[in-house]
Amino acid sequence: MTVGSRIDSVGLPFRAANSYGVLMKRIILGDNAVVLPTLPRGFARLAYIDPPFNTGKIQKRDRMRVTSTDAEGVRTGFGGRRYEVQKIASGSYTDSFDDFQAFLLPRIEAAIPCLTPDASLFVHLDYHEVHYVKVALDRLLGREHFMNEIIWAYDYGARSKNRWPAKHDNILWYVMNPDDYVFNFDDMDRIPYMAPGLVTKEKAEKGKTPTDVWWHTIVPTNGREKTGYPTQKPLGILNRIVKIHSLPGDTVLDFFAGSGTTGEAAARQGRGFVLIDQNPAAVTIARQRLAEFRPECIGFVAGPQGERLPPTDRGDDGVSRQEVLPQLR
Ligand SMILES: C[S@@+](CC[C@H](N)C(=O)[O-])C[C@H]1O[C@@H](n2cnc3c(N)ncnc32)[C@H](O)[C@@H]1O
Repeated sequence: MTVGSRIDSVGLPFRAANSYGVLMKRIILGDNAVVLPTLPRGFARLAYIDPPFNTGKIQKRDRMRVTSTDAEGVRTGFGGRRYEVQKIASGSYTDSFDDFQAFLLPRIEAAIPCLTPDASLFVHLDYHEVHYVKVALDRLLGREHFMNEIIWAYDYGARSKNRWPAKHDNILWYVMNPDDYVFNFDDMDRIPYMAPGLVTKEKAEKGKTPTDVWWHTIVPTNGREKTGYPTQKPLGILNRIVKIHSLPGDTVLDFFAGSGTTGEAAARQGRGFVLIDQNPAAVTIARQRLAEFRPECIGFVAGPQGERLPPTDRGDDGVSRQEVLPQLR
């Protein structure tokens, strides 16, 4: 079931695609507080953000590049082949705020004009800040605009021995209009019954629709999906959000975009995307990841396939420092 109508049918200035019918696909380097006010009004029917969680740490990951070699390698693998292992920095960002709400809320407020009147907003947090942000968003948008708190439960990593190990994130879903929003119930994926013996064979084979508790593994450490960017979220979570809460041809906004998971989920399901991140390493990774969709890069320079260009005014990460702010209107 789809609740909500196409916004362009009511004549609002929404253009998911340009005049040639090409979906909007943009990656923008910059502080979202500066970029968001420059974006067009009412272009996104879905916004998903995964801001820093205020863990008080510097989020950092290094990636390994393993290449086979004839030379003396540091690792010997299957069949006695030698492998060279190189550490590649994948960027880092600070995740510590004295006043997290004062950081986040004005940025969400700045994003609201970018949304269509029937849009959904997803805010991905964890136990550090979710309760404070829930209260602040209820005040900003109205309690009746709150739809769900989705619990993403996973089971990975160290287990605390002096408290229950925290193995879930919290994703708040708000709608701009509680009477008019997109919820593609029929497009939902099915999950196995916990006790298939208690339902008919047909039901057990079909599976059941998910609830507000989503069991999903973290990004597999050695899988193809892994970009190496710290705190990368699983594509499976974003695929579900994009599929159920937007329509093909829509544009999805993520203004804490990191490695571009939202962009990949959007592009693979026929949606456009606008991704913003202030970290040059993030937009570089997102550009490489989304190269096949040929996104426009704004505020930074990337090669045709996302590869680094020869250094001119670039830093260690290979990204241009020119602060070209987009004129997107
Ligand atoms: C938790 S990560 C997002 C990870 C992303 N969901 C993914 O799957 O890769 C948060 C991102 O917010 C970015 N960020 C923090 N403050 C920002 C700001 N003021 N403007 C734009 N991006 C910001 C950080 O650089 C970081 O990449």
